[in-house]
Amino acid sequence: MCGIVAYAGHQEAYPILIEGLKRLEYRGYDSAGVALLSDDDQLNIHKTKGKVSDLEAYARPRNVSGHIGIAHTRWATHGEPNQVNAHPHCSQSGNIALIHNGIIENYLSLRKELEKRGYSFRSETDTEVLTNLIEDVQKTENVTLFDAVRIALNQVVGAYAIVVIEKGHPDQLIAARKGSPLVIGIGRNEYYIASDATPIVGRTQKVVYLDDEQVACVKLGEELHIKTIDNVEAEAYVQKLQMSLDSIEKSGFDHFMLKEIYEQPDIVRDTMRGRLLPEQGIVKLGGIADYERHLLYADNIIFVACGTSWHASLVGSYLIEALARIRVKVEYASEFRYRDPVITPHDVVIAVSQSGETADTLAAINLAKEKGAVVLGICNVIGSSISRATDAGIYTHAGPEIGVASTKAFSAQVTVMALLALRLAELKNSLTEERRRELVTELNHIPDKIKETLQNSDIVKTIAEKFKDVRNMLYLGRLQNYPVALEGALKLKEISYIHAEGYPAAEMKHGPIALIDKNMPVVFIATNRHTYEKVLSNIHEVKARQGIIIAVVSQNDVEVRKIADYVLEIPESESIYSPLLATVPLQLLAYHIAVMRGCNVDQPRNLAKSVTVE
Ligand code: G6P
Repeated sequence: MCGIVAYAGHQEAYPILIEGLKRLEYRGYDSAGVALLSDDDQLNIHKTKGKVSDLEAYARPRNVSGHIGIAHTRWATHGEPNQVNAHPHCSQSGNIALIHNGIIENYLSLRKELEKRGYSFRSETDTEVLTNLIEDVQKTENVTLFDAVRIALNQVVGAYAIVVIEKGHPDQLIAARKGSPLVIGIGRNEYYIASDATPIVGRTQKVVYLDDEQVACVKLGEELHIKTIDNVEAEAYVQKLQMSLDSIEKSGFDHFMLKEIYEQPDIVRDTMRGRLLPEQGIVKLGGIADYERHLLYADNIIFVACGTSWHASLVGSYLIEALARIRVKVEYASEFRYRDPVITPHDVVIAVSQSGETADTLAAINLAKEKGAVVLGICNVIGSSISRATDAGIYTHAGPEIGVASTKAFSAQVTVMALLALRLAELKNSLTEERRRELVTELNHIPDKIKETLQNSDIVKTIAEKFKDVRNMLYLGRLQNYPVALEGALKLKEISYIHAEGYPAAEMKHGPIALIDKNMPVVFIATNRHTYEKVLSNIHEVKARQGIIIAVVSQNDVEVRKIADYVLEIPESESIYSPLLATVPLQLLAYHIAVMRGCNVDQPRNLAKSVTVE
């Protein structure tokens, strides 16, 4: 949730830290701070409420010199976002400074213990408690900072990614992780540490991902030294970072979200590359080849996910049931983990996550494993915690998604769902060869059709202009367009703060219809051939109550456009692929409305890109 960046080397640390924070700001943005150790061993900490630009303004007249430092951008968990609670936190003696991502669950009991031992606290944070705990261990056990961190973490319940610096040690960073990611970049006599690889891109390609319960001592002129918190030596596996600088820049777009919406034709193509083989009419999914039989004979396939990934999973359930005739359930990871679900070794649980770090989804995976189920993953971030915790998986190749509201990751996830459904259908012989070939060919055309859909952006903008000041909006769809309705509503509320609800269109009669009057815009996704007449009736029901109709329709639509007030057209396609096309104008609608309302599209209030806490 928070962003961590640290540097030690021959360059001035401050500009590198600020640049890194800016790249990480999508992870959290309610306060920011930096701690630098100057060449004359002064520990200078500057922090402020607000964004990284506020930190820059605050630090401008202050001493920011030094070749080693740590920096943080926060998404508050303990204590309101203000200067005192912002990271880095300093120990009581002023000797060490620490940044932290995660939650120390037993911080209150640790704090009481430390208070008895004479420590007092400036902030309300769990992080300051951890900082003083480390200092206390260091003093009482007379050990190095490396060992003190390791020993202190044995007393901690919860999740953490931390980096610590110490006065008198201008060449050393200590880092540790459990449950929150941390990556170390190895340069030429310089080191970078960050909560994801974005601050490291363009600086070095050699990276090491720390594992849970590992502590690293990063010392200039020395090899990386890693131990577990139980004091067992561990190997540093150096990997090559594949991300390009281009993929984390706006490339001329006003916002990351808009760039990511426009990337979708390429992303969908990338996700299908080498997997969809249109000539042969088949799909190959190398990542899960060893588990295909488990999927085929599973009592249940159970998707676990949160947020937009949950919506993509719901689309997946329609696709797999429709094409492969296999029972599929879709669960919110946060509910699943506490519900004591009935899971057996004959079930396959599939965790779906863009970041691969969502705490609830990780916990759901652990539970499914305990119950003996096969656990697969559909993840975007390579090497992420979820991708490592699962038995096997399929990567979505969406590249780094920076906009907090997920767009291209959703399309990539739905693409994987379509590939999976087609592969299972092939294995199960649930479709005729002719029909399967038709569906494979059509999936191959989807990237071009998304491109075509994007050409309607100006029409969407005109509609956005009309509705930018509304207070509520209803999104309705049936079958696979129901998750599209949910996703459309989610995008709008996330970034424009307009209240929006997604509903299965027919359920409208059981409640939401009471809300309809001349001020209520209702977005219908009316592209499914199978339920076309039904949706048409639902539209008439809204119209009869003076509701305003915005309809997403296929190009050849005749009836819906006669009664809709506004129409958003998408190319003709197979109904089951409608989510890949119909979501696009709804993403654009939310985007344009949010921009017109002056909202911060890429960093909406209170949200975070990667939710590593419960
Ligand atoms: C947060 C993000 C959403 C995302 C959800 C699940 O709420 O703001 O965009 O859909 O987490 O994240 P995941 O990384 O697991 O897909």
